[in-house]
Amino acid sequence: GLPERVTIYEVGPRDGLQNEQALVPTEVKASFVRQLLAAGLPIVEATSFVHPKWVPQLADAAELMTGLSADLGDRARELPVLVPNDRGLDRALDLGLRHIAVFASATETFAAKNLNRTLDSQFAMFEPTVARALAAGLDVRGYVSMCFGDPWEGPVPVEQVVTVGKRLLDLGCQQLSLGDTIGVATAGHVKALIAGFGRAGVGVDRLALHFHDTYGQALTNVHAGLQAGVTTYDASAGGLGGCPYARSATGNLATEDLVWFLTGLGIEHGVDLQAVVDASTGMAAHLGRPSPSAVVRALAQS
Ligand code: HMG
Ligand code: MG
Repeated sequence: GLPERVTIYEVGPRDGLQNEQALVPTEVKASFVRQLLAAGLPIVEATSFVHPKWVPQLADAAELMTGLSADLGDRARELPVLVPNDRGLDRALDLGLRHIAVFASATETFAAKNLNRTLDSQFAMFEPTVARALAAGLDVRGYVSMCFGDPWEGPVPVEQVVTVGKRLLDLGCQQLSLGDTIGVATAGHVKALIAGFGRAGVGVDRLALHFHDTYGQALTNVHAGLQAGVTTYDASAGGLGGCPYARSATGNLATEDLVWFLTGLGIEHGVDLQAVVDASTGMAAHLGRPSPSAVVRALAQS
């Protein structure tokens, strides 16, 4: 049967906003994060400690986390943030943050475009960072991007993704989030990838799935993940998002779509759907663009 309970890992403030051209004021981001937490989302990835020239939208990462710590205290320090290297880790440690995520590419081209590294040399960048983070008692998630297809290289072989994922686990990452960065995954491919990890000795308890909804397959792909036993799913409130370094990456699976779907299956998630809609429609109004999610549109009208 399907899992009884699922963890929704909210990435809207990070994956959702990183791609927005117009700078969103730090205080607007902070209230978005607070609303998402108040909606019952157990994990809200807040921002990235990356190079500010690479992702200008998230250049205010330190101010955001400081502002959130002022009223949320320890709760803010538990929010995960992206960290690609030692410089990013220093910035996160300065603020007392406890959860980081490194992000690897399964393909050569995207490693160059997103990290300015080769497929192989990205691990030399992550290695000291993950080791120091673990030594400091932090939790470290490892993302793998382009797990299904890559806009420059086409379909990505399962074994190539498994090799990259295993290297992140060998560095000490506790969880792997398998990213369909450009939203080309299909249910059969999801099943095959999870099976590939299984053959390599990586169980579903170590895996999370991260879908973008470009081809409208994200929920079907979640269903394939549920059937295989995966219990953590990344989603973005309102379906905000994309990746600034991946041509053709569109919005993430909308958190509201995921919540509606899980509720329909009787799977526990702990999230107040209307409260997420309220948070995401507030952000959509700020950005001046309606949500692509049909669930959001339906509930925002009711
Ligand atoms: P680089 O230019 O190779 O960096 O970029 P470097 O190590 O050569 O350092 C150059 C300068 O940058 C140095 O300063 C560093 O201090 C500074 P200088 O000495 O010249 O004055 N620097 C930094 N400053 C602040 N914070 C830092 C930092 N690092 C270096 N962390 C780097 C390499 C990784 C930094 C760059 O490529 C980068 O920031 N990339 C981030 C790209 C990104 O954030 N992409 C989006 C997230 S991934 C994603 O969305 C996919 C995901 O959602 C899953 C999916 O959908 O697949 C996760
Ligand atoms: Mg993403």
